[in-house]
Amino acid sequence: MTVLVLGATGFVGGALVPALVRAGERVRAASRRPPPRGAAESAGVEWIQCDVRVASTLPRAMEGVECVYYLVHSMGDANRREFRAIERRSASNVARAAAASGCRRIVYLGGVEPSGVPSEHLASRLEVGAILRGGEVPAIELRAAMIIGNGSASWRILRDLSLRLPLMLLPRWLESSSCPIALEDVVTALLDARRVPLDASRWYDIPGPEALRAREMLMLVGDLRGRRIPALRVPFLTPRLSAGWLKLVSGADYGVARELVLGLRGHLLPRDDVYWQLTGHPPTRSFREAARRALETEARGEGIGGWVAAGEERLVATLGRGS
Ligand SMILES: NC(=O)c1ccc[n+]([C@@H]2O[C@H](COP(=O)([O-])OP(=O)(O)OC[C@H]3O[C@@H](n4cnc5c(N)ncnc54)[C@H](OP(=O)(O)O)[C@@H]3O)[C@@H](O)[C@H]2O)c1
Repeated sequence: MTVLVLGATGFVGGALVPALVRAGERVRAASRRPPPRGAAESAGVEWIQCDVRVASTLPRAMEGVECVYYLVHSMGDANRREFRAIERRSASNVARAAAASGCRRIVYLGGVEPSGVPSEHLASRLEVGAILRGGEVPAIELRAAMIIGNGSASWRILRDLSLRLPLMLLPRWLESSSCPIALEDVVTALLDARRVPLDASRWYDIPGPEALRAREMLMLVGDLRGRRIPALRVPFLTPRLSAGWLKLVSGADYGVARELVLGLRGHLLPRDDVYWQLTGHPPTRSFREAARRALETEARGEGIGGWVAAGEERLVATLGRGS
């Protein structure tokens, strides 16, 4: 089938695109900014420029497409104050364009519903899912907690907290539990999503194999590098101070760090694991294995950007030969 990947140059899209090509699909990869020269050709995909906020850019991208993957995320954008409204408009544009194009399925990767009041970011992820599921084209929403892989913004923060500090501060939000999942297992779930039976729109949780507190994840990552650092409980660190602390330690964008902290006010646990029973492909990697792999691929300079990075390497090699 012809498959459109919106957000094809991102952390998840970069890994999904080559997997779809290997599975024999015709892939149209879309984003606003072009990938490096030659990347699309080497990956065997057609790249198309598309901005989901601008409805007029969608019909051409959707032409002849049977399945659309929605992997777009605008939180890192400069106009973050409006990101929730932008995400709503973007999702409506895609749902309408899919209906007009004759597309048969939308696959959306969203976030887990938290216990308690969701942060703006998590609320936005859920809202996007509801809009896509409310459209005419059946949509399947897969809800993931943190995805472990080299190139994920939240993984980078976790890694830096684990590996850079002489003393671990333990604010209360580090007690939040979730079932993180390896990038490779998310890709398998997304591949299956184009084929699972779907009479009407549905959402599923896609939990990783174990529930862990954020604090335990930090310790496990430290342990992989042989680090045993003293920990100090600071239950009253505010989200603002916490985000400042994360920015300081990891160089993360302040807004992204703040949303991460606010997203951990409650637990991020799945309702069930029905999706794994449906597909027969439950996650295969523990948090420890996923984290080890993320650290190793980073040390080898691999893993970020999937097909996009391959294009960058080719470009560097070409330029190198020319000089
Ligand atoms: N990373 C995680 O740990 C995690 C966990 C749970 C769920 N998820 C979900 O997985 C999905 C993908 O996340 P990600 O981490 O891969 O995001 P990401 O790395 O930030 O990638 C976002 C992609 O969307 C594209 N994009 C952004 N705005 C766009 C627009 N207006 N029009 C078209 N393309 C646009 C970006 O390329 P351009 O900027 O060039 O357009 C990029 O290709 C999101 O829905 C996210 O909520 C991620």
